[in-house]
Amino acid sequence: MNDMTTVSYQQHAYSAAAQKSLSRKPALFINGEWVASSHGGLIDVEDPSSGKVVSQIVDASLADTDRAVAAARAAFDDGRWSGLAPIAREKIMLRLADLIEAHAEEFAELEAIDNGKPKTMAGAIDVPGAVSHIRYMAGFAAKVGGETTPPYTLPTGAFFTYTVKEPVGVCAQIVPWNFPLLMACLKIGPALAAGCTIILKPAEQTSLTALRLADLIAESGIPAGVVNVITGYGHVSGDRLVKHPDVDKVAFTGSTEIGKLINKNATDTLKHVTLELGGKSPVVVMPDVDVAEAAPGAAGAIFFNSGQVCVAGSRLYAHKSVFDQVVEGIANTAPFWAPRPSLDPSAHMGPLVSQEQFDRVMGYIEAGKRDGASVAMGGDAPSADGYYVNPTMLVNVNPQMSVVREEIFGPVVVAQRFDDLDEVVKEANNTQFGLAASVWTKDASTLHKLASRIKAGTVWANCHAMIDVALPFGGYKESGIGREQGRAGIEAYLETKSVIVKL
Ligand code: NAI
Ligand code: MG
Repeated sequence: MNDMTTVSYQQHAYSAAAQKSLSRKPALFINGEWVASSHGGLIDVEDPSSGKVVSQIVDASLADTDRAVAAARAAFDDGRWSGLAPIAREKIMLRLADLIEAHAEEFAELEAIDNGKPKTMAGAIDVPGAVSHIRYMAGFAAKVGGETTPPYTLPTGAFFTYTVKEPVGVCAQIVPWNFPLLMACLKIGPALAAGCTIILKPAEQTSLTALRLADLIAESGIPAGVVNVITGYGHVSGDRLVKHPDVDKVAFTGSTEIGKLINKNATDTLKHVTLELGGKSPVVVMPDVDVAEAAPGAAGAIFFNSGQVCVAGSRLYAHKSVFDQVVEGIANTAPFWAPRPSLDPSAHMGPLVSQEQFDRVMGYIEAGKRDGASVAMGGDAPSADGYYVNPTMLVNVNPQMSVVREEIFGPVVVAQRFDDLDEVVKEANNTQFGLAASVWTKDASTLHKLASRIKAGTVWANCHAMIDVALPFGGYKESGIGREQGRAGIEAYLETKSVIVKL
C-alpha cells in the first residue's frame, strides 16, 4: 500500500485522441447528423480531477429536443429499424459492440477526464460493461416473440389465438453521470434489440462518451434517426422528453427525487416508465466471517467509484463480535483508496464528479459530526483543486441521523453493530430504499435467510456490486420501477399484442 502523504493531485496529460474529443465543435446528434443548437447555449465540461473547464457541450433547447423527437418518431414510424430482419439488427448491434471495444482505451480516458473515475477502473469496468450490454442484448433481437396460447372460454377449434411482441416505440433514455457510457449502452441495448428508436440524453456533467458513441453508432450502420443523442439540462431538454406526446417510453436512471418527478410528468401522456433510482444498501457482516476478506470487501462496496454508485454499500452492519475488527480493517484501507487524479495509473479512487457533489457529500459528513457521529476514517477533504474527498467511515451513529437515512452518493459509510439476525434484518429494511444488499457469511442457512428477508432487488453474498447483464436489475420500494438487464430488460421495451381469429 502506498503512503497517503505522497499523493499528488496534479492531473496527468491528455492523449491526442482525448484532446480531439475535447475540441470537437459542440453539436447534437439528430437524424444521423451533427447539428448546431437552435439557440447557441453551451454548457461547460469540467475535469473533476483539476476543476478546470476542458470542453463545452450544447445545452439543447426545447426546439432542439422536439427536433430529436421528430427524428426518432419518423424513424420508428417508417420501420427503417424494426422492419429489418432480426439477423440484420443483431449484426449491426454486434458491429457497434466491436467498435466500442476497438476504442476501449479512448473511452476509458474520456470517461476518466469527464467523470473523475480512475482510467484503470473505466477500462476494467465501464467500457467492457458497455460492450457486454450491447452484445448480450443483440442476441435478443431474434429471440423475442409471442406465443400461441389456447383460449380458456372461447370454443376450442373455433378460434386461433396468439400473441406477438412489438417494440414500444420512441424511447427517451435519460442517464446519470456516475457510469456515463455504461448507462448509455445499458439503455440503448435492449431498446435497439426490441426495434425501438431512441433519444438518449446523457447527464449535463458527463456527455463526452455519449457523443463519441454517436460517431460509432453512425459508423455501425444503425440507420439515421434510430439513435439521437442530445446533450443538455434535465429541467429543460430532459423535462421536454418526459412530457413529449410523441415519446412512448421513458427510461431513467438517477436520483429518487427526479425519478418521482418524472413519474408524475409522464402521467399526462401515460408513457411506459422504468426508473432505476437511489439506494442506501446495507452490507451485513455476520460473526463467522474471515475479517481479512470481509473488511476489504466492505470497503470496496462503498469506496468504488468514490461511492457514486446506486448500489454503494453505504450502511455497514457488523455483528458485535467482529465490529471492532471490521471497522479497523476498513480504516486500514485508507491509503489504498486515497483519492488521486483520474489519469494517475495508481489511482483506485478519483475525485467526486462536481463541486455540487463535493458540497453535498461534505455537507453530509458535517451533519453526521453535528449529530454526534464519530469519524473512524477520513471525514475530510485534501486541499487540492478538484473535488477530492477522503474515504470516510462514521461510527456511533443511530437510525435517525441523516447520514444513515439518506443517499449520500460519496465515499461515506456508516457503521453500526448488531446482536442477532432479527435485529439486523429489521435495520437493513428500515429504509425508503430497496435497491441492493450484501451479506457476508460462510453459513449457507444464514445466507439464504438473509437473502430471503432483505427487501432489495439484488442481494449479493460474500461480494458486492457484482453486476451481470444476464441478471435483472432494479429496485424495491423507492429505488425504482421495473427491471433492466436479462430477459426482463428486453421485455420492458416490448408491447404484447393479442390476436384472436375466428376460424
Ligand atoms: P439527477 O437525478 O438530477 O440527474 C440524472 C439525470 O436526470 C441527468 O441526465 C439529468 O439531466 C436528468 N434530469 C434532471 N432533472 C430532470 C427532469 N426534471 N426531467 C428529466 N430529466 C431530468 O441527479 P443529480 O442532480 O445529478 O444528482 C443528485 C443526486 O442524485 C446524487 O447526489 C445522488 O444521490 C443521486 N443520483 C443517483 C444516481 C443513481 O445511479 N441512482 C445517479 C446520479 C445521481
Ligand atoms: Mg438534479
